[in-house]
Amino acid sequence: MKNRANIQIAASILSADFARLGEQVKATQAAGADRIHVDVMDGHFVPNITIGPDVVKALKPHVKIPFDVHLMIAPVDPYLEAFVEAGADILSVHPEAGPHLHRTLRRIRELGAKAGVVFNPSTDPSAIEWIIEDVDLVLVMSVNPGFGGQKFIPSTLEKARKLGTMRNAKGANFRIEMDGGIDMETIGAAARAGVEIFVAGSHVFGHGDPGRRVQELLRAAQDAVAIHA
Ligand code: DX5
Ligand code: ZN
Repeated sequence: MKNRANIQIAASILSADFARLGEQVKATQAAGADRIHVDVMDGHFVPNITIGPDVVKALKPHVKIPFDVHLMIAPVDPYLEAFVEAGADILSVHPEAGPHLHRTLRRIRELGAKAGVVFNPSTDPSAIEWIIEDVDLVLVMSVNPGFGGQKFIPSTLEKARKLGTMRNAKGANFRIEMDGGIDMETIGAAARAGVEIFVAGSHVFGHGDPGRRVQELLRAAQDAVAIHA
């Protein structure tokens, strides 16, 4: 049995215990999490307020895995530099958060980070069609951005599939990540739809041992796409 090697889990600290953040990110790294997903919200672009660059900076020395920073703020451009300086390795932005997506992506790469685009459930994949070479990652939202613990929206699976087709047709090489409602029920279908990186918040931090939860998700995703020889 072979496993697709590029399956990754991004532990979203939105649902972590904020009083024990350092300890919790270390536990998920030790269990095999590939990324720390940081949800930045401004109470304006989305109806919730979370954290800023100082938290990324404080956590950075505690883990070696990349920081995958999901910016749900508008305007977004004035804050890119601060997040990269704080230690963000990947910065993902919503096309709806600013008037010049292409300029924003170019700026992220110029600053030395990888550039991601986030699709709301209603955003059409064509949003990146003409700028595909400037995209390192597409983050498909499988809930509406703003809160952890929401119900997975199944129509987003078809969108992930379409993105895979678009990537092949154009010879592009962005990664496909999915965010929202990822748990033991939904991760298999997402993996079969071509998702490679799975963001999980409440499933990882909401109950019990975060490390064990990461391992279970990883195994479930790998099993779903395993080739049985
Ligand atoms: C929601 C955030 C997610 C959130 C996912 O706006 O983008 O990253 O943490 O949480 P769960 O895994 O609980 O759906
Ligand atoms: Zn997120």
